[in-house]
Order: sequence, then structure tokens, then C-alpha cells
Amino acid sequence: MMTAVPTEGARHSPWRLTTAPMMDWSDRHCRVLFRTLSPNARLYTEMVTTGPLIYGGEEQHRRHLRFSDVEHPVALQLGGSERDDLARAAKIGVDWGYDEINLNCGCPSERVQRGAFGACLMAEPTLVADCVKAMLDVVPPHVPVTVKHRIGLDYNESYDFVRDFVGTVAAAGCNVFIVHARNAVLKGLSPKANREIPPLRYDVVTKLREDFPALTFVLNGGITTPAQSAELAEQFHGVMLGRVAYHDSYTLAQTEQAMFGTPLPTREEIVEKMLAYTAREIALTQGHPHPTRMRDVSRHMLGLFTGQVGGKSWRRMLSDATLLNENDPQLFLKALPYHGDYDDHRQPVLDAMAG
Ligand SMILES: Cc1cc2nc3c(=O)[nH]c(=O)nc-3n(C[C@H](O)[C@H](O)[C@H](O)COP(=O)(O)O)c2cc1C
Repeated sequence: MMTAVPTEGARHSPWRLTTAPMMDWSDRHCRVLFRTLSPNARLYTEMVTTGPLIYGGEEQHRRHLRFSDVEHPVALQLGGSERDDLARAAKIGVDWGYDEINLNCGCPSERVQRGAFGACLMAEPTLVADCVKAMLDVVPPHVPVTVKHRIGLDYNESYDFVRDFVGTVAAAGCNVFIVHARNAVLKGLSPKANREIPPLRYDVVTKLREDFPALTFVLNGGITTPAQSAELAEQFHGVMLGRVAYHDSYTLAQTEQAMFGTPLPTREEIVEKMLAYTAREIALTQGHPHPTRMRDVSRHMLGLFTGQVGGKSWRRMLSDATLLNENDPQLFLKALPYHGDYDDHRQPVLDAMAG
């Protein structure tokens, strides 16, 4: 049973509600959706490895680092294990305007392990401490350098392991730890299985918080409901939502409401804002080497009507290659599920499309 120790600090923590770094998912369009759903969440990029930032030049920087002003506060997650490379990449990140630099010490994928970073870094706390220090040396004082990690490696459930990791990295100046509260199994489990099979142990994070009262701990892993987020954010310094924010994205707006009292927008209002954003993006990037297409945004919005009447047809229409190829953001309105006022113009549109 977790001890409820509501901290006054938790209410004001900049990490109270955060969205997870998710490769291939939490790109800049996805983050604009998250921001539209939650004005107060702190948003994390996908993991960006140091290579493209250091050797890639302007085009790679644009590709990996571009973001919209509305995304603030937004954190850049870096993947790497060479202190000088991480320091250079962190500096590039702050020059682009990121509000936080986060180091990935939690990803268990084989590819990442071959690069000797991600979760396997948990076995090398002094190396992580060195990297954190090198990054802190180059970023301005108002930009925190934070670490996202697991609670253990493989089947080792020793609390001392994660306590020593946190202690060593904190001594180098890291004050904020985002803890995915399950072990990472480095051999034999896919990244997906690694998000499901190792058991969640929030009590380990509770213990870390008790042992390091001056540090900030953000709880991540398996949080699904707004009530759960609100409760856990009182017990820790904040929560991080990953899959639920993506697959059932309206939950993020409901969580925002439960935690900050923000009025709940309707799903249709979210759609209208995203339609305007998409139209702007398409117009602004016309003629670019990588113009924004309707599908770049719509693919993140499939989960907006999860569990709602018409949710399946919404997904189906927004996944239809022929419709998407028209590259017309009005498709969002045509795909809206049956909802009161929209019904009047929806049926003729559907009839016309069927014809
Ligand atoms: C598709 C996908 C990609 C992910 N990519 C990253 C990543 O780049 N960096 C990272 O630290 N964690 C990554 N994660 C893990 C999430 O950040 C988070 O720790 C995990 O999903 C548990 O949170 P949840 O139960 O709320 O989803 C990824 C998760 C998913 C589902």
C-alpha cells in the first residue's frame, strides 16, 4: 500500500502532468494534439540520438528538433552515452528553445543496447553522472537536465540498485527523475513486452521519494484514469502518461480537468483546432522538401473517439489511403462520428462520398 504523503510542492511541480517520450508517436504533430487537450502538461519529444544532431547539419536538426511555440513547456529526450556528444546535443537542444533536456536510461530495445545507451546505462551510474554533469555544464541554469529510468535491470529486484543509481546521478546535479516503475529486461523481451510483462512496483518509487526528499520523482507506467493520475500526482511530484494519452487521447483532457480544473473541451472542439492547425501546417510547408501531409497529423488522432459511438468509423475514415491522399483537412469534419449538431451535414457528406 502506498503511503499518501501529499506534498505542497507537488501542486506546483512543473512535472505534475507530463506526456511520455514515445518513438514514432510523440512527434511534433502529436505533441500539438496533446497540448490542445492539455494546456498544462509538460510534453516530451521522441528520443533523439546524438548522432543526427552532431553530424546531421541543419536539415537533420529541423527534422528532429522543430516544434511549435504552443508546445512549451517541451522537453527534448536524448539518447546517447558519450558525455561530449550528449553535451553538444544538449546545447543544440537549448539553442532550439527546449525547456528541459532529458536523458533516456530506460529504453530496453536491442538497437539501443547495441549503441550502449538506454536502460543498460542503469548499470553504469558513474557514466550517467558524468554525462549529466557534462550536459549541465553547457545548458543555462533555468534548463533542467533530467533522467528517465526504470527501477531495475533484468530480474534483479534489489532496491539498493536503483537507490544507488539515483544517488550517484543526483550527486552530479540531476534533481528530477522520471521513473518507469518496472524493471527493464535486456535480453529476451521486446520493447513492447518490456512495457507490459515486468511487474509495476510503485512502492519502489515511494521509497525513493522517502530516501531522497530533496529530489523530484515523476511516476510513470500503467496509469490509465484521470482519478488515478490526480491521486498519484499528490503522492509523487507528478505523473507521466504514455499509451493512454495516445490510444485514448481524450483521457488527457479529462486528466487535465481533474488535476488543474481546466474546463473540458468537447472532442469536436479539439477536432476543429487540429483542423486549423493542419491546414496551417500544410500551407506553411508547401514546397518544402518534407511538406506536412494530412496523414502526418491524422495518424495521431485515431484515438480521439476511442470508446465512443462512431469511434470505429472515425478511425476507418482517417486511415483510408484514398481519402488521405486528397490531403484535405476537411476530412476531419467528414469523419466526425454522429454527434448531435454535426449529424445534419454529416449524412449528405457520407452519401456523397459513398457515391
Ligand atoms: C511506441 C512507444 C515508444 C516509446 N519510446 C520511448 C522513447 O523514445 N523513450 C523513452 O524513454 N520511453 C519510450 N517509451 C516508453 C514510454 O515513455 C513509457 O515509459 C511507457 O510507455 C510506460 O508508460 P505508459 O504505461 O503510460 O504507456 C515508448 C513507449 C511506446 C508505447
